[in-house]
Amino acid sequence: MKIGLFYSSDTGNTECVAELMRDEIGEEIMDIHEVFKTDLQDTIIQYDFIILGVPTWYDGEMQSEWANKLDDLAKVDLSNRKVAIYGLGEQEDWGEYFCDAMMPLALKAQESGATIIGNWPSVGYEFTDSKALIDEHTFIGLPLDEDRQADLTVSRIKTWLKLLLAELAVDNWRASLI
Ligand SMILES: Cc1cc2nc3c(=O)[nH]c(=O)nc-3n(C[C@H](O)[C@H](O)[C@H](O)COP(=O)(O)O)c2cc1C
Repeated sequence: MKIGLFYSSDTGNTECVAELMRDEIGEEIMDIHEVFKTDLQDTIIQYDFIILGVPTWYDGEMQSEWANKLDDLAKVDLSNRKVAIYGLGEQEDWGEYFCDAMMPLALKAQESGATIIGNWPSVGYEFTDSKALIDEHTFIGLPLDEDRQADLTVSRIKTWLKLLLAELAVDNWRASLI
């Protein structure tokens, strides 16, 4: 199985997390792609499992390079594909919009047929509101805050990746029984 991670980044934090995830999983299993340099339609379809990384900017906006690629994402058939989202944000100064951009990206992937995995509990963050919540206690993906909680990033990444890989392993096992 090969995992494709696609990210955009203005100031390097989402990129740095992409590299940490690749180091954690191993580059023989995970490729990372910066979306603005990538032909998304041709590339994303090569992977069974896809991770999307997106920072939120300017009162809840999706970082512009991802925003420019949303139409391309909508054109890809992602049925039978699992997609997990991580987001970079800052929960104090931007606490009303914390990691908002994860949600429209997840919805676009879902519209293309993807199954979203990798929900994450909201406990441990101090924010006012977020469009990335699926309920009061749960984010659609993994929010990371390199500005206020950088010391938690590595452990959050390790735990999230373990959960994702366990979920994929269970699915493969189920498929082998059919
Ligand atoms: C002007 C400005 C606006 C921001 N707006 C938001 C926001 O609306 N929501 C949020 O969660 N974080 C916001 N942030 C924090 C960034 O998302 C955060 O620094 C992130 O790590 C940047 O990721 P990048 O380096 O990959 O671009 C903002 C930061 C700045 C400087």
